[in-house]
Amino acid sequence: MSEYDTLVAAARQARENAHAPYSNFRVGAALRARSGRVYTGCNVENATYGLTVCAERVAIFKAISEGERGFDAIAVVTHTEALTPPCGACRQIIWEFCGDVEIILANLKGQVEVHRSSELLPRPFDASFL
Ligand code: THU
Repeated sequence: MSEYDTLVAAARQARENAHAPYSNFRVGAALRARSGRVYTGCNVENATYGLTVCAERVAIFKAISEGERGFDAIAVVTHTEALTPPCGACRQIIWEFCGDVEIILANLKGQVEVHRSSELLPRPFDASFL
């Protein structure tokens, strides 16, 4: 049992709620706050395609809208052999709200990789430039 099992299990469970009738690519995410609370998200697609929101951003926006601040890890689960990293937009949002956190990628077979935001989004633009 790894230290990431609980978070990966939460992301896997959230994936069950994915609304992905267009891509059929179902994604679940689970964000762990420093408070210990876990916020989950799934991808929510739309017939316009462009209004789709990724699982990671759903989880982060849920947490922020609940008043949570300060996070230490986010897990992302898909069904594919190749583990799915967050898209560019999600990397930017992860950086904004979570900083240099662990990003845990996993699939349904139980394969897991751990990365960090600073590795997946080098030289980020953020509030320090404003
Ligand atoms: N997607 C996510 O939810 N997270 C990712 O990390 C990659 C992509 C979603 C968006 C869309 O609903 C589907 O996966 C295919 O791109």
